[in-house]
Amino acid sequence: MMPSPYRILCVAGARPNFMKLAPLVRAFDRDSDAFVSTIVHTGQHYDAAMSAIFFDQLGIPRPDIELNVGSSSHAQQTAAIMAAFEPVLAKSKPGLVVVVGDVNSTVACSLVAAKLGVPVAHVEAGLRSYDRAMPEEINRVLTDQLSDLLLTTEASAHDNLVREGVAPEKIHFVGNVMIDTLLAHRESASRLDVAGQHGLDDLGGAYGLMTLHRPSNVDDLATFDPLMAAVAVIAEDLPVVFPVHPRTRPMVARSAQATALIEAGRLRLLEPLGYLEFVGLMDKSRVVLTDSGGIQEETTILGVPCLTLRENTERPVTVTEGTNRIVGTDPEKITAGWKQIQASPPTGQVPALWDGKAAERIVDVVRAFLSAG
Ligand code: UD1
Repeated sequence: MMPSPYRILCVAGARPNFMKLAPLVRAFDRDSDAFVSTIVHTGQHYDAAMSAIFFDQLGIPRPDIELNVGSSSHAQQTAAIMAAFEPVLAKSKPGLVVVVGDVNSTVACSLVAAKLGVPVAHVEAGLRSYDRAMPEEINRVLTDQLSDLLLTTEASAHDNLVREGVAPEKIHFVGNVMIDTLLAHRESASRLDVAGQHGLDDLGGAYGLMTLHRPSNVDDLATFDPLMAAVAVIAEDLPVVFPVHPRTRPMVARSAQATALIEAGRLRLLEPLGYLEFVGLMDKSRVVLTDSGGIQEETTILGVPCLTLRENTERPVTVTEGTNRIVGTDPEKITAGWKQIQASPPTGQVPALWDGKAAERIVDVVRAFLSAG
């Protein structure tokens, strides 16, 4: 008699989770004799442009269960996810819960699973900014302490975890599932006429691309306005295209610097984009300005210079091997970073195991873990 397949419950919560989940679910489903996967969507992100479009474009099956928690304060959102997830997990009793990244859904579901005695695999474990003002940093540290399998993307993560007392045999260097997705979709993204569809044809393909959504950058006008002053200097050389995260939109309207740039046509606002549209736009951009984590990794693979508008990164390999430069939030440092890129554009190399096969390696690690019982 065939042994019954292992049941894997995959958690999806917020936009950056979806591109990490896609290759994993596909890899589990390819081996359907061994695995049955279920997707639980917490509803942390819920707008179609922040969620459903990614399922459609990346071919992720519709979530089996939706918790519909929505937005609220950190404590309320985390608690709501936990309260909604607990009965789902108690009923489904999977062999493993897979969580990805560092959002509130990641830590909330890990904690519920650990308390119910269900093993947790954390994809993208061990990244550290050592900045506890970032909510994600707290989520990362706690999720890793609760996890049984720690699946890492770069060497720094292993060292961070060992320093925090994680047993080395739990840590597996598997590569980067987000890059699996990027490599799978880069070509189809490049075929889209994103500039044409979004009224950017007049830029002639010469533009910078910006994303900003970190609370530390976009929740306070006293920080946001000077950032826009730095963008104004860059925009004298190169118009900047800016798909605006819902969190950031109110601040753009309040910023005099941003408003002036928009009126001058040097800052072009877009609604949040789908995955393919964003990758297509990023691949053809001259420079990316961002405070995202994942975009630092994607620009490294695309070979596009990236200026990270934060004081630190939890992804140091994007700097040591990739095209990323950490310029902070001081306008002078940002514009100096831009001048440096113009003078000598960074050339990067592909970090180890960012080769499109991370999900396959994860499935192998999971199989070995579950069969050891
Ligand atoms: C969350 C993650 C962050 C990730 C980001 C990507 C945490 C702590 N933060 O931040 O790590 O980089 O997602 O986007 O988990 N909103 C909408 N529609 C939505 C979702 C949110 O309008 O579908 C608005 C709401 O006003 C909400 C605000 O955006 O209050 C912030 O959403 P939230 O999920 O709390 O945090 P993000 O800033 O998106």
